Amino acid sequence: METLQDKSNKPYNMIEKYLYTWPHGELNGDSAWRKSEHSGYVEHPMPEKDEKLANDSRWPGFFPSAICFVTTGDENNNALEKVVGATIVNRFPYIVALSFCTKPLSERHYVRENFMKRLESGGSVAVQYFEPGKFIDKAMDAITNIDDNEIEKRIASTGLKTVKAQTNDSPVFEDAYLVYEAKLVKPGKDFEGNPIFDKPYTDYGSHRIYYLEIEAIQLREDIRKCETQIAWKSLPKWEAQKPLQQLTPSATKPVVDVKYQKGYTSDYFFPGKNTIGFEYDKIENGMAIKFLPPLPEDQVEVDNDKARWPCFFPSSVGLVTTWGEDGSANLMPCGSTSVLIRHPLCFAICVSYAKINVRYAPRASLKSLLEQKQFICGVPFANDTIVDAIKYAGNISITQDLDKINNAGLEYFEDEYGPVLSALPISYRCKIVDVVRLGTHFLMLGEVQSVIVRDDVTKDNCLKWYSYPDVVKVKND
Ligand SMILES: Cc1cc2nc3c(=O)[nH]c(=O)nc-3n(C[C@H](O)[C@H](O)[C@H](O)COP(=O)(O)O)c2cc1C
Repeated sequence: METLQDKSNKPYNMIEKYLYTWPHGELNGDSAWRKSEHSGYVEHPMPEKDEKLANDSRWPGFFPSAICFVTTGDENNNALEKVVGATIVNRFPYIVALSFCTKPLSERHYVRENFMKRLESGGSVAVQYFEPGKFIDKAMDAITNIDDNEIEKRIASTGLKTVKAQTNDSPVFEDAYLVYEAKLVKPGKDFEGNPIFDKPYTDYGSHRIYYLEIEAIQLREDIRKCETQIAWKSLPKWEAQKPLQQLTPSATKPVVDVKYQKGYTSDYFFPGKNTIGFEYDKIENGMAIKFLPPLPEDQVEVDNDKARWPCFFPSSVGLVTTWGEDGSANLMPCGSTSVLIRHPLCFAICVSYAKINVRYAPRASLKSLLEQKQFICGVPFANDTIVDAIKYAGNISITQDLDKINNAGLEYFEDEYGPVLSALPISYRCKIVDVVRLGTHFLMLGEVQSVIVRDDVTKDNCLKWYSYPDVVKVKND
């Protein structure tokens, strides 16, 4: 294994070279940024101009997004791409969304024409994760050095061995420790009989978002047996340079009988004390393999624990705030949040509408989102106040606690698009431009109208993030 612990027992040595920081330069003094109407913040109006994008199409902001490698095709006609921000968007059926550039924006964001052709003709993919180190580097080199029009050469050029996926023909790297096999969704119906997926993708702006139903998951045996663990830091690191907020603890916090508590930690280990074990059907090539039943009806198990994701999938969380009809301020932590369109920059947030169990129940936020057609997506960071707030707000509905944000220990100020949580380094003001019914969740596409950033976010006091999960030896604590 590549991720050997060093003598000081630090598990994250190998991953250090993948550190990503934001901002890339000073925002103060950059002509794209101006003083916000909210004091103590700077703001970037959106969308950006085409010429500016052509020069530098890196996001004018940051959202914690994991990177995976995706293969498609078969032994003779295959393709490899990296995907930023792959995300689970629906629970039943179990769907991963992957987005690809369809319009040329810059050298970084160019059209993935040949990859998409193969994906659409074969109809399936294998989404794969490597440990930090040489395997990531080999895959990344192949993608960087070989153009999309010679895409069939990429996998061979990595020098890595592949085997066929279990449920489709996509090549699976023998060195991947986690693999999600998935196929393009077919038209169907949700539990209420509403039609879903007249087509397996959504086009908006510069990107196409594909919806792929997961058919099998492969997890390396040493991880399945908990000899090693996947270690995932789901929130960026950042230090506020001025008080986080003024708040004094609320005395009104209700004691609510919450039937199901969804846990949350920004420092996540899988498998771990608070995770489920990986239930598998067979073992092959050193991988434990679980097949997911084909029909959504078969996958529904009312039990809350069974409805949990069957295995680790790297995600973060967006803090989605809205105004209710009555002016109440709501906050819904949303793990299925990702930036899926580059231009205009769009967030996808996936909100449960299904009545399956306590875990998957319609969210009160849904009503405000559908009515107001706007929201704010705040970027949390690794901090006890923030993590406690996520746990509280993610387990109580505004229907149970009208003062949910304050009782979560957070302060907000008013903005047209929603309450802005003052402790968060970055907030995106979003207008909903599309709503896609997926089965249990609505995917809401929020086009960013402007980015608001605290003025203590600077190049020297940047957000720090690793886009790859690590694999570490088990900690014995
Ligand atoms: C870490 C975390 C992530 C969550 N992700 C989602 C999500 O992606 N989609 C969703 O519908 N609910 C998600 N939830 C649950 C909602 O945040 C929760 O049901 C909340 O109480 C809804 O509030 P509301 O009824 O006031 O809208 C998540 C909860 C937590 C703790």
